[in-house]
Amino acid sequence: MGLHLGDPAPNFKAQTTAGEIDFYEYLGNGWGVLFSHPADYTPVCTTELGKTALLSEEFAKRNVKVLAVSVDPLDKHEGWVKDINETQNTTVNFPLIADADRKVATLYDMIHPNASATATVRSLFVIGPDKLIKLFITYPASTGRNFVEVLRVIDSLQLTANYSVATPADWKQGEDVIVVPAVSTEDAIKKFPKGVKVVKPYLRYTPQPNV
Ligand code: BEZ
Repeated sequence: MGLHLGDPAPNFKAQTTAGEIDFYEYLGNGWGVLFSHPADYTPVCTTELGKTALLSEEFAKRNVKVLAVSVDPLDKHEGWVKDINETQNTTVNFPLIADADRKVATLYDMIHPNASATATVRSLFVIGPDKLIKLFITYPASTGRNFVEVLRVIDSLQLTANYSVATPADWKQGEDVIVVPAVSTEDAIKKFPKGVKVVKPYLRYTPQPNV
């Protein structure tokens, strides 16, 4: 079964490098990132997990818990994490699921048989506090993801959730945001005291509300 934006993120229990985890309990009331990579002891994955660990304060600032999935067993994960820490100058401080039976990979449709019959592709899901899927991306094994972009998307999702604004192409922190179509210009003027710039009736900007 394919998952779509807005679908409930399936819950699961899994063995991880931090013991058994119930996914929903692990997420608590915050946001979550669940991401897969093809296999342990592979080069691109080593850099991806290292980069995620290096950005752990940024994820924490946004109230995001990170959880990685790999279809390898726990003892292999534990050895590999030592290599990641050593080569990427970091400390991996988020759990890795030991998904040797592919339970989580199957639940989240992370195996794409025409790419690889056995390994997971690079899937990444952002899950909101309501446990609904807010975003997913899928990259091939040969392309490492941009985790600064993942943070940027989370910033956009959190702005939408908290302030009813959207973000334009290539938006960065501190730049103007867009009033969502569901809010009338009259209401927008009341809602956004920093001002509303109407370029077209359907294209209205306001300064980022939370800076
Ligand atoms: C990697 O994870 O490093 C990788 C996997 C498959 C192809 C290329 C790179």
